[in-house]
Amino acid sequence: MTAEPILEVQHITKLFGSVIALSDVSAKVYAGEVTCLLGDNGAGKSTLIKILSGVHQQTEGDYYFEGEKVKFNSPREALERGIATVYQDLSLIPLMPIWRNFFLGLEPVKGWGPFKRFDIDFAKRTVRQELLKMGIDIRDPGQAVGTMSGGERQSIAIARAVYFGAKVLILDEPTAALGVKQAGVVLKYIVQAKARGLGVIFITHNPHHAYAVGDRFIILKRGRTLGIWSKDEITREDMIRAMSGADELEALSHELDELARRDAAKKQLELAQAEAEVADELEEGEKLFDE
Ligand SMILES: Nc1ncnc2c1ncn2[C@@H]1O[C@H](COP(=O)(O)OP(=O)(O)OP(=O)(O)O)[C@@H](O)[C@H]1O
Ligand SMILES: [Mg+2]
Repeated sequence: MTAEPILEVQHITKLFGSVIALSDVSAKVYAGEVTCLLGDNGAGKSTLIKILSGVHQQTEGDYYFEGEKVKFNSPREALERGIATVYQDLSLIPLMPIWRNFFLGLEPVKGWGPFKRFDIDFAKRTVRQELLKMGIDIRDPGQAVGTMSGGERQSIAIARAVYFGAKVLILDEPTAALGVKQAGVVLKYIVQAKARGLGVIFITHNPHHAYAVGDRFIILKRGRTLGIWSKDEITREDMIRAMSGADELEALSHELDELARRDAAKKQLELAQAEAEVADELEEGEKLFDE
């Protein structure tokens, strides 16, 4: 493993008005590794990656990229440095063919002056080659993206980032809407991107997906860092435990047990009282009968 992180944040705090989305979060991301960003809803994962990708700026703290202090004022600035983000909606256009989506906004041109035109053959060839490098064999680059599965679309977005020279690839819940098989396909491309030397940041709610591909795990909780582990420092079980707030669940289940116990005790007492009353009444009745 390389000693220097490609990307690092120190003591990041982010406020939205009075909402503290992140508080004193520090993290390191290494090239050729998958860093998983985990945590419950509202933990601050998306906020953190939006700071990394230039959508938001931190309120406090420092951001370093390739050892240099940076401040990105827009996603474009981050992208120019090689930080590519694939959001869940992917910004792909369903009705357009794969090759056109791949080069959207970055079209290769042939010729010059009035003869300058989009080099379609080059685009089609390149898309096919690039996807092949990631183990995806598309038969027809002219196929509309809308006809592809969610997993295939994710892989096109990933291949695109890799092709255009991303050094850091940020994926915000790429497997969330996918079935088991499609999620597996995307996980494979994450590993491919890592093998090609990119620093991958992978946000997921699924501990199994995280543990399958992750080298490093960062768990956020209500805007704070709950813990950072490399894979050899934590077992899958302990990671799931930390992620799911298992300790809290355990406390809750004790509390519920206690309530149930009290409830049962109360019922038993009521039952005993009722029985005693009946017994009393019977006794009274017997007495009357005797008299
Ligand atoms: N633009 C914003 N304005 C105000 N509050 C925001 C904004 N963006 C995020 N927040 C708040 O910051 C906190 C962290 O949100 P964030 O979206 O980063 O969580 P998350 O970990 O990505 O959650 P999820 O798993 O649900 O996507 C939440 O309380 C959220 O309401
Ligand atoms: Mg989010």
